[in-house]
Amino acid sequence: MIAESAEAADRIVADAIVRVFAERPRPVIGVATGSSPLGAYRLLIEDHRAGRVSFAGADVVLLDEYVGLPREHPESYRQFIRRHLTDALDLAPDRLHGPDVWSDDIAAACRDYEATLAGLGGVDVQLLGIGSDGHVGFNEPGSSLSSRTRIKTLTASTRADNARFFGSPDAVPRHVVTQGLGTILAARHALLIACGPAKADPIARAVEGPLTAMCPASVLQLHPHATVVLDDAAAAGLALAEHYRQTFAGKPGWQFL
Ligand code: GLP
Repeated sequence: MIAESAEAADRIVADAIVRVFAERPRPVIGVATGSSPLGAYRLLIEDHRAGRVSFAGADVVLLDEYVGLPREHPESYRQFIRRHLTDALDLAPDRLHGPDVWSDDIAAACRDYEATLAGLGGVDVQLLGIGSDGHVGFNEPGSSLSSRTRIKTLTASTRADNARFFGSPDAVPRHVVTQGLGTILAARHALLIACGPAKADPIARAVEGPLTAMCPASVLQLHPHATVVLDDAAAAGLALAEHYRQTFAGKPGWQFL
């Protein structure tokens, strides 16, 4: 979907999440970090304050987490999601789930996180951004297309991208735990948002390029229900952009996403 503006893209994403609450008695919402979802999170908080959505019966699950940061570190992804989203909602604190990266046994913690997701009945909608190298979550290039939650080593380019949050690339953790590409494929709806010119290249590779572990987001081509929401700048590299615009404009009323 190529939205008219980044703000319109945020609204589409927020609406897609709100709709899950009408359809599922106990929604499971997968959230992502980074700057891309922030506008949608602000709208969800507004919707909550306006009484349009309550997270009281929901579960929220993290996509990924740094390894090696103290539990309360402001840049840990749990704290990021609390700060930008869940602290402003009526979500019960024990219903924000993430991998236990503080465990002495990370491999067991990864298996436990998969069991948590399965125990919740699976993820209804998993929100995603995209990294400049085409990663989703922290599935760096070369990730197995059927991987499950596991520890990964960040590439130098991702650590450089994320240095802005830590002051310097050296301060960015080297390791992370991320939902795998197979885990993301198991979500009932995969919803990726990307806006701005820096996303044009990874989006073109993910949406229209070959399915390849070198562009992990391309795995969404295998997903039975994946939606990529863009603004014009992020869509600039797409060969079929005009076709996507016409498709969106002509969507039947019953079909939202
Ligand atoms: C991090 C996160 C990803 C996110 C990416 C892009 O690497 N692990 O989930 O998609 O950043 O971030 P941004 O949206 O700030 O460009």
